[in-house]
Amino acid sequence: MSHNLLKGKKGIIFGALNEMSIAWKVAEHAHEQGAEFVLTNAPVAMRMGEINKLAAKVNAQVIPADATSIEDLENLFTKAQEILGGKLDFVLHSIGMSPNVRKNKHYTDLNYNWYHQTIDISAMSLHKTLAVAKKQDALNDWASVVALTYIAAQRILPDYGDMADAKSMLESIARSFGFHYGMAKNVRINTISQSPTMTTAGSGVGGFDKFVSYADKMSPLGNASAEACADYCLAMFSDYTRYVTMQNLFHDGGFSATCITNELMDKM
Ligand SMILES: NC(=O)c1ccc[n+]([C@@H]2O[C@H](COP(=O)([O-])OP(=O)(O)OC[C@H]3O[C@@H](n4cnc5c(N)ncnc54)[C@H](O)[C@@H]3O)[C@@H](O)[C@H]2O)c1
Repeated sequence: MSHNLLKGKKGIIFGALNEMSIAWKVAEHAHEQGAEFVLTNAPVAMRMGEINKLAAKVNAQVIPADATSIEDLENLFTKAQEILGGKLDFVLHSIGMSPNVRKNKHYTDLNYNWYHQTIDISAMSLHKTLAVAKKQDALNDWASVVALTYIAAQRILPDYGDMADAKSMLESIARSFGFHYGMAKNVRINTISQSPTMTTAGSGVGGFDKFVSYADKMSPLGNASAEACADYCLAMFSDYTRYVTMQNLFHDGGFSATCITNELMDKM
């Protein structure tokens, strides 16, 4: 149901790969709520072609950009402002990838070139995005930037590998850049820490399906879906959350505050 929550707002949505992607749901819901935006993803992800279906559905243009490339990001922000006819009000960073996790490299035996890539793609890309936006003065006052993260930044999950380090860094960048961009232009920057969700990135983590059902049982409200995550992102882009910044916000049905449930205790 549309409340026109984002009417008049313009933005960029990174990371819609296929229908399962959290960014895909954000794009659909943002469109329903009256936002105008461009979609972007890495050129290699474009080749799968799915994003064009989404673009047609939400009436958006697609601008390829590798989020580790300053040149690509400069082009993205310049073109997005041209297409949308002005500065932007929101950005969704929904990007994550670890070659070490993909190739089952144990955390104690990382390939360091891949480790660099994990950090560059999954964390530093947020810094680069914000730095380019700030240099171009591409964001309106009170604009809202959201990056998606995971509780492995605070608590160990053995198979999440070096992605845990990337997520810790991502959350730190949101806090640090949130301070500087807030002081300069009242731009707010937050991370949303989402429940485990069956997507392409999620299912790359070993034992993921078991972990999804464990997390579901450990959460008083159950796991938050990708659809629900999209709604939370929209709330953060809206004017109803204008004084929330530099936070890591758990969107996990209560998982992060739960030590044990009776159901799980009975299984012991
Ligand atoms: N699925 C989960 O369980 C879960 C839980 C918490 C947080 N998250 C986070 O949500 C975000 C979105 O992931 P998802 O679960 O929707 O999976 P997804 O695989 O659909 O999305 C990941 C996206 O990152 C993009 N990407 C990879 N390298 C890139 C690059 N160099 N430049 C630009 N884009 C690049 C991919 O093309 C893809 O679109 C990620 O940050 C992920 O870590 C996911």
